Amino acid sequence: MDPTLKLLAFLILVLANICPIKSDFSHCEKVVKNWASSSLQQRVKEDKHTLRDLLFFLHVPRTGGRTYFHCFLKRLYANAQECPRSYDKLRFDPRKQECRLLATHDDYSMMSKLPKEKTSVVTILRNPVDRIFSTYEFSIEVAARFLVHPNLTSATKMVGRLRPGATGVSTLDIWPWKYLVPWMREDLFARRDARKMMGSIDIKRNDPYNMEEMVMPLQEYINDPRAHELVHNGETFQVAGLTNNSYFAESHEVRCCVQKHKILGEHVLEVAKKRLDDMLYVGLTEDHRESATMFANVVGAQVISQALTENSSMESAANSKSGQGSSHSESLPDNDDNQDSTSDHKADEIGSTEDLEEKKETMTVGKLMEAYEGCISSLRKTQSRRRKSSLKRISPANFSKEVHFSRFSFTGHSFC
Ligand SMILES: *[C@@H]1O[C@H](CO)[C@@H](O)[C@H](O)[C@H]1NC(C)=O
Ligand SMILES: *[C@@H]1O[C@H](CO)[C@@H](O)[C@H](O)[C@H]1NC(C)=O
Ligand SMILES: *[C@@H]1O[C@H](CO)[C@@H](O)[C@H](O)[C@H]1NC(C)=O
Ligand SMILES: *[C@@H]1O[C@H](CO)[C@@H](O)[C@H](O)[C@H]1NC(C)=O
Repeated sequence: MDPTLKLLAFLILVLANICPIKSDFSHCEKVVKNWASSSLQQRVKEDKHTLRDLLFFLHVPRTGGRTYFHCFLKRLYANAQECPRSYDKLRFDPRKQECRLLATHDDYSMMSKLPKEKTSVVTILRNPVDRIFSTYEFSIEVAARFLVHPNLTSATKMVGRLRPGATGVSTLDIWPWKYLVPWMREDLFARRDARKMMGSIDIKRNDPYNMEEMVMPLQEYINDPRAHELVHNGETFQVAGLTNNSYFAESHEVRCCVQKHKILGEHVLEVAKKRLDDMLYVGLTEDHRESATMFANVVGAQVISQALTENSSMESAANSKSGQGSSHSESLPDNDDNQDSTSDHKADEIGSTEDLEEKKETMTVGKLMEAYEGCISSLRKTQSRRRKSSLKRISPANFSKEVHFSRFSFTGHSFC
């Protein structure tokens, strides 16, 4: 791109990102403090460790939540018990359903749509720097799958054609990927076109995070206004309920204020910590084994015993509702992008509601963990196969997990 054009495009983006609201410090301080104090008022429930009727899995993207969803929750809940169109905000209306499991990338503000007294929340958190690398890499991974197409027009047309009849929720439909992936996709095609125009290119650098001939460098990605809006402090905003996908009316203003006046982030952090304190379970990506074991013991055990005590009423409920949610829960968002929504994980799917009810009667925490181990190893194999075949398209750029910390040192960054 012509440098002047580039600058102009950059300016437009920056301008578009400037908060269209009043954002001087004293105004912002009032806005953020008001929001925080009303959020902090609700007291932590004394029986927070008891599983309630509805389990809300607040799935922060790129924390490994998919393995919990797929290898635990799908085994613990029947398809019919899953809230239809989880992960799909546009078409999800929790009030209409008597569902028991809601898994979604939507943020904590979803609670305003749920019966608060009857809902338990669980989540998994990850080191924010790692999560950012992972978000960058996953944006590229999904976008690179489109490079099978000769040009961007044909890639986007293809998606449009697949959309209507497709079952399952596509990565391209869910926040934040519905913004991050098309952005990256467009960029990958532009870089490929530029390479074609230049004929042969010689890539000298060997750093996958800074290989501008092939992909948008990490620096460029992370400094873009879209990343500021969707990725920076993502976990904290999601737990606080302040993402740009929030249901809270005041979220936009509060988020803008915090982005402008970093010091006000302290109040957001307080709220996020309080919310975490009120959750049934919080796992850590880094302590995967321990977190998974705890999940089985804290959440799994209670779902199993809940199912046993409610067995008869649940059976009839499940029978009358069977099939309702199932068509949408077949495919996992992270796993499905319309390009090749193959049934990689069919083997892990639980057959019918009846099977699950039977299984649950004989399910134990030990058996759950055992099943989890098998499930996670097959899931990981599939993931790495898909990753490899996708990254092949942008070779020699290649990301292998270990390099992060040796290459980059993030110092003095405050993650809210
Ligand atoms: C994109 O590719 C399709 C399929 O090969 C082709 O029909 C179309 O003309 C191409 N469009 C552009 C703008 O090059
Ligand atoms: C969320 O952020 C994306 C990317 O910057 C933007 O396109 C979208 O309009 C935002 N949504 C809202 C509701 O502000
Ligand atoms: C199922 O529920 C009934 C009563 O609702 C109870 O008597 C029975 O023991 C339960 N079965 C199991 C396996 O817990
Ligand atoms: C990328 O790196 C992984 C791990 O080192 C390797 O298995 C894979 O073959 C590489 N892919 C390409 C396209 O070089």
